[in-house]
Amino acid sequence: MSIRFLQETKSFRLDTPKATYLFHIHEGNYLIHDYYGATVGEDDLRYLCARGKRNGTYPNSPDVNNREFSPALAPMEYSTNGSGDFRISALQIRDGGGHNSTDLRYVSHKIYKGKPAIPHQPATYATAEEADTLEVFCKDPATGIEITLFYTVFRKADVITRHTMVANNTACAVDLERIASTCLDFVDADYRLLHLDGSWSRECTVEREALTRCIKTVSSKRGYAGHQHNPFVALVRSETTEDQGEAYGISLIYSGNFASETQVDAFYTTRMLMGINPEGFGWRLDVGETFYTPEAVMVYSNEGLGEMSRTYHKLYRHNLCRGPWKTKKRPILINNWEATRFTFDGNKIYSIAEEASKLGIEMMVMDDGWFGTRDDDKHGLGDWYVNEKKLNGPLKDLVDRIHGLGMKFGIWFEPEMVNPLSDLYEAHPDWCLKVDGRTMSTSRNQYVLDMSREDVRDYLLDCMAKIMDSCQIDYIKWDFNRPLTEVGSALLPAERQKEVFHRFVLGLYDLLERLLDRYPNLLLEGCASGGGRYDPAMLYYSPQYWASDETDAMERLPIQFGSSMCYPASSMGAHVSRCPSHHMKRTTPFETRGNVALWGTFGYELDITKLTDEEKELVKVQCEEYHKYFNVIHNGDLYRLIPPYTREEAAWMFVSPDKKEALVTVVVMMTKLHRNRYIKLRGLDPEKNYKDEETGKIYNGKTLMNAGLIFPEYREDFTSFKIHLTEI
Ligand code: GLA
Repeated sequence: MSIRFLQETKSFRLDTPKATYLFHIHEGNYLIHDYYGATVGEDDLRYLCARGKRNGTYPNSPDVNNREFSPALAPMEYSTNGSGDFRISALQIRDGGGHNSTDLRYVSHKIYKGKPAIPHQPATYATAEEADTLEVFCKDPATGIEITLFYTVFRKADVITRHTMVANNTACAVDLERIASTCLDFVDADYRLLHLDGSWSRECTVEREALTRCIKTVSSKRGYAGHQHNPFVALVRSETTEDQGEAYGISLIYSGNFASETQVDAFYTTRMLMGINPEGFGWRLDVGETFYTPEAVMVYSNEGLGEMSRTYHKLYRHNLCRGPWKTKKRPILINNWEATRFTFDGNKIYSIAEEASKLGIEMMVMDDGWFGTRDDDKHGLGDWYVNEKKLNGPLKDLVDRIHGLGMKFGIWFEPEMVNPLSDLYEAHPDWCLKVDGRTMSTSRNQYVLDMSREDVRDYLLDCMAKIMDSCQIDYIKWDFNRPLTEVGSALLPAERQKEVFHRFVLGLYDLLERLLDRYPNLLLEGCASGGGRYDPAMLYYSPQYWASDETDAMERLPIQFGSSMCYPASSMGAHVSRCPSHHMKRTTPFETRGNVALWGTFGYELDITKLTDEEKELVKVQCEEYHKYFNVIHNGDLYRLIPPYTREEAAWMFVSPDKKEALVTVVVMMTKLHRNRYIKLRGLDPEKNYKDEETGKIYNGKTLMNAGLIFPEYREDFTSFKIHLTEI
């Protein structure tokens, strides 16, 4: 069993293949955290929780007969507010008397095989053979509120998941004010905080900064993660690299406001929380009700960031994504957005599909503009009925013709939004998020629908089902193009308005679940003006996500490197687009655009009818390559060899699970004269010999990893090449 209760020390010991997590029941039934890190012996590690010298400024607990113990200093397993611990609180509940002093003490526990689902929320899943779960039941002694801490240990991966449940079996309603999914106390503060910062078209830029004695917060108040931050952070050592050193990743399976708070206190110890952002959150918990947090996924690696990422990739690909598409080869798609924007008709869509089908592209995706009066971004959002005039006839005719080409057909929706200039808004202005008396902000000329309302969700499902039932839709691009503002719901009483942000997310999950229930073979691709909602919760529904609206190959590199910290190649929407590129006006070779897009779920985002014959030949080659390299890229292990941050070159490689095949890609970002270029490969089998497909040369795995390879000489910016190695 990967989880044990050690009776003698009253400790819980959680073991993953290379890590140990330990906490114990202290005097007074406090839960005290002892250790999380590389595997340790069977020693009693409770000595680690002795923290500094206390004086009168650190309160004692009347339940602990030891004046050295203070909740303000002890490493708490799940910290609470207002009962002696002044550091950031995982839990803060305002009781019926109006106080938010909260406390948490151990009552009992159970350990079992497998992993429970979290009601109405996405989470990782596991069989009884894959994982074990610990539930620790606690109580706030004064209020009687019950708190259950859930821990699941994946037996074959360095993964521990956590979430919390609160049950109100007291006599009066209480209000949840802070409720984190995980809380981690570390004995030292010698860490760097790594997080993914960004903006539209520049998602997931890797930031790495020292911790100082204060609280650092990575968060969102936009109603979704947004482009600015991603619900993933890692604590790493200063010496941690891609291949060496400790990394503690924490990823939150949540599509709403999240916060990761990291505090270094006066004693140079560290506390890290991850969960729903307490700012803008509140939840009235009536008598008899329960509340579940989203799930936090903690990954420990002492083999650098690369190993941490590979653990996330495998877990999210196999134990988070679901449905028939989770590991299946996805169709190579062509999307008309960058080719046409709103200016197209059915014949144009067909002509793109027709040309694409000849070159090996497998699915036509009709983007925004096919419905209502949607000829620009000011009109029609919410009116999900086909503009037959624009499509030169019923949607079914177009879809059937495209299927007739041997292609699949996909369509764009942005269900959660409405334009003020739409039939839907005219009929149901109250269906939007709004605060009475306050002017509603527009963003991209649209308002946000109140997804906490069942009638709104029923309407949306009904609209989508009408389209889906009218013809064979194989794929939906589910877009979301603005943040939430003036967040109020017409149906909720004043004391529950603080719940709207979270209820919105639960409403989104409900609609996605119902849609997939009804159309189990549907392939969903998430999108939020690119990667604005590229989070693990969305991957539970849509196994692929449009990583960024930025399709310039050079700008894409840091986005893909950063996204790959947590998200697998099989989830990363990446397309070849036209040059000069839309936003950057940069021209890069067609081959390079293909090599960069091959990293993800491959496709095209251009008017293929306008390509030269030479470019069309390259499309054919790239489509063949997608099939050829599918196994090594999508089932393989990623090694980030040279990150693109110096802007000189970037390189990455995938190694197949059996290590019989590897694909190395190198992109020259900026040529430099008189500089020898050289690369050491990773992840190969040191005992195997590999043949370079292009040159026919044979190398030993050890040689490639220890001596490396000299790059061919190149003189042009933005060129790229691949090295395909197979075992001989
Ligand atoms: C967003 C998406 C784009 C495209 C447009 C359509 O910006 O990121 O890919 O679908 O919406 O309006």
